[in-house]
Amino acid sequence: MSILVTGGAGFIGSNFILDWFTQSDEPLVNLDKLTYAGNPANLAGLEGNPAHTFAHGDIGDRDLVRQLLEKHAPRAIVHFAAESHVDRSIHGPAEFIRTNVVGSFRLIEETRAWWQKLPQENRDAFRFLHVSTDEVYGSLGPRDPAFSEASPYAPNSPYAASKAASDHLVRAWHHTYGLPAIITNCSNNYGPYQFPEKLIPLMILNALAGRPLPVYGDGANVRDWLHVQDHCAAIREVLARGRPGETYNIGGNGEKTNYEVVRAVCALLDEARPHRKSPHAELIAFVKDRPGHDRRYAIDATKISRELGWKPAETFESGLRKTVAWYLDNPEWVAHVTSGAYRKWIELNYVNRES
Ligand SMILES: NC(=O)c1ccc[n+]([C@@H]2O[C@H](COP(=O)([O-])OP(=O)(O)OC[C@H]3O[C@@H](n4cnc5c(N)ncnc54)[C@H](O)[C@@H]3O)[C@@H](O)[C@H]2O)c1
Repeated sequence: MSILVTGGAGFIGSNFILDWFTQSDEPLVNLDKLTYAGNPANLAGLEGNPAHTFAHGDIGDRDLVRQLLEKHAPRAIVHFAAESHVDRSIHGPAEFIRTNVVGSFRLIEETRAWWQKLPQENRDAFRFLHVSTDEVYGSLGPRDPAFSEASPYAPNSPYAASKAASDHLVRAWHHTYGLPAIITNCSNNYGPYQFPEKLIPLMILNALAGRPLPVYGDGANVRDWLHVQDHCAAIREVLARGRPGETYNIGGNGEKTNYEVVRAVCALLDEARPHRKSPHAELIAFVKDRPGHDRRYAIDATKISRELGWKPAETFESGLRKTVAWYLDNPEWVAHVTSGAYRKWIELNYVNRES
């Protein structure tokens, strides 16, 4: 038995894999293209673990996907690989269509072709878990009820549209071909190993360097924050007991405005670095808003809680405290992902090899 994970060198994927091996010795194959967001150093702790196989490549490479499926015969696929940054999708949407839509299509289609040839028992037991986002549902008004699994899709950014498209493909492959697929739509994650282009690590690192803390617009955009380890625990539950053909919303009951998030980061840094002359919050700088910036996301996670008994273990306060501590305790990781040497090393070390 083994599972195949895509995008396992990214933020959530690497947290998922590290968690996996704290709970199981079931082999896991990690297919990752190592874009700027993929970082094998996240998985350095697994070096020498024969149960972890790293396969460098693209989910859109059908021959590679076919070979991996035939060689490793996974009992499940957990599909994280994606272009994931909204701002990048605004500047360059093509890569988002290429990976999130076309890449996902090729992955699902190769999976279907391989899965259809399995013995009936293995076909029934197989799972394709597609990891998606709450951004597919669009934006909420201040008093609207939170997104449920029945909320209509209304993606507003190129990123959200590309994820929505891949969700629809997964749904259709279940309904048309019977592929035992499940979709999870999760709110904003934060935690260790998040690339510092995203809000929380960006604020931590800028504040530590005494650089301005750029907050879009009036800072009142609301997101529902979930600690990445709670997301990983939810994915494990869905994989184990989720019903094929279903969608599960995952959220942390942690609605905060961006301004509140940045203030909370600053307060924790004031505590951890008391020698700074002025409070970190003085670095906050409001900047021109992102075009089409969704105002509010909120997740109703009643279904996963009722059916699978999942609940987040962290509050926003406890999770953020741990996250700030992690960035303070891991300056080498930060220096590595922010340096050009990191890209060069990747090119040198990971040119089309499976290890
Ligand atoms: N970060 C969040 O807050 C959040 C919330 C909900 C859902 N999600 C979803 O979870 C998944 C993972 O998000 P993340 O934040 O870890 O992303 P990330 O950008 O940190 O990591 C993405 C990973 O996918 C790899 N990748 C990209 N294109 C690839 C391709 N064509 N072939 C193979 N590998 C490829 C990258 O190298 C990287 O390792 C995404 O599908 C995202 O939409 C993220």
